[in-house]
Amino acid sequence: MTSSNYFNEYKGRSILITGGLGFIGSNLAHRLIQIGDVEVTIIDGLLPGQGGNRFNIHNIEDRVRLLIADINSDYVVNHLVGGVDYIFNLASSVSHLDSMLYPHQDLQSNCAAQLTLLEACRHSNPQVKIIYTSTRQVYGRPVYLPLDERHPLSPPDINGINKLTAEYYHLLYHRVYGIRTACLRLTNTYGPRQLLHHNRQGFIPWFIRQAIDGEAIELFGEGKQRRDMNFVDDVVDALLLAGASKDAEGEIFNLGGSEIISVSEFAQKLISLTERGQVHNIPFPPENQPIDIGNVYSSYQKIESMLGWQPQTSIHKGLSDTINFYQKNRAHYWK
Ligand SMILES: NC(=O)c1ccc[n+]([C@@H]2O[C@H](COP(=O)([O-])OP(=O)(O)OC[C@H]3O[C@@H](n4cnc5c(N)ncnc54)[C@H](O)[C@@H]3O)[C@@H](O)[C@H]2O)c1
Repeated sequence: MTSSNYFNEYKGRSILITGGLGFIGSNLAHRLIQIGDVEVTIIDGLLPGQGGNRFNIHNIEDRVRLLIADINSDYVVNHLVGGVDYIFNLASSVSHLDSMLYPHQDLQSNCAAQLTLLEACRHSNPQVKIIYTSTRQVYGRPVYLPLDERHPLSPPDINGINKLTAEYYHLLYHRVYGIRTACLRLTNTYGPRQLLHHNRQGFIPWFIRQAIDGEAIELFGEGKQRRDMNFVDDVVDALLLAGASKDAEGEIFNLGGSEIISVSEFAQKLISLTERGQVHNIPFPPENQPIDIGNVYSSYQKIESMLGWQPQTSIHKGLSDTINFYQKNRAHYWK
């Protein structure tokens, strides 16, 4: 299936995006509005320290229904899920570091809230299709590379454990109750509308900010860890393809990048694109070292062969567009 024919699947449909004021959810909302003839509802709790940002939808706000609420409320989600055709379930605490500092908060957002949503669907809308965004962090330190979906699971932190649990919930509700669910395990994702006001959501957005500011980009160790990454538009494509495909139901798919790049090469690329900044090597902070997983990148062969997805955007093009976006909209992301 190509993007031109998945568009038709969404026309005239009602779609709920949980976490839709966040980075990936808001980019998805923009794409759906572009498709047209789609009823989009966003629920987002604007949880402190997360990527929720009202500016992310400022130019489509009159075309989406917005509810500021936590999905961990039976009352709220029971009213919301009835009559919806698709749920893109992106509401989540995403910081691996924060999950180690505040484990109960991560548990609430990534497990309890997910069960609340699934229970509401079981009672009020078992016909709905749900796409859940998980993370490749569920694999932990790689035994082999690239990571495929058969790689052993050994999450290195609380967030990875809770995301894996939520995957199992989604797949269980498919097997036992027939709710059409699918899980995507995302790799590092970057692009416009990402949180940039602290450095606890991964190195990519923070490096982008430091490079734009012309500051020293701090590399932990020598920055030799090799990573893949996806531009957010490609991730939105994967979400919509999975939503539109019957073959995706009950399945887990990795996403991944086609270019593997070291953290240090990534920093150098940013410096050359912004023509600012420099690299500064510092020792690993004690809170990061134990949850760092070294070289890691994913195979996207399964989603490519089953759904026809592959990333389209080069790192060079994706980063140029991203830098351009933040240079124009700096005031809304530099808080
Ligand atoms: N960004 C990445 O690199 C990446 C990598 C792997 C997986 N993912 C997954 O993709 C999804 C989206 O991530 P993102 O980068 O857009 O994060 P984000 O922080 O930008 O957005 C998440 C949004 O969810 C909201 N939220 C959290 N808990 C909620 C709750 N209980 N009720 C209502 N709203 C709630 C937050 O307020 C926030 O707006 C998450 O499931 C994340 O685990 C992202």
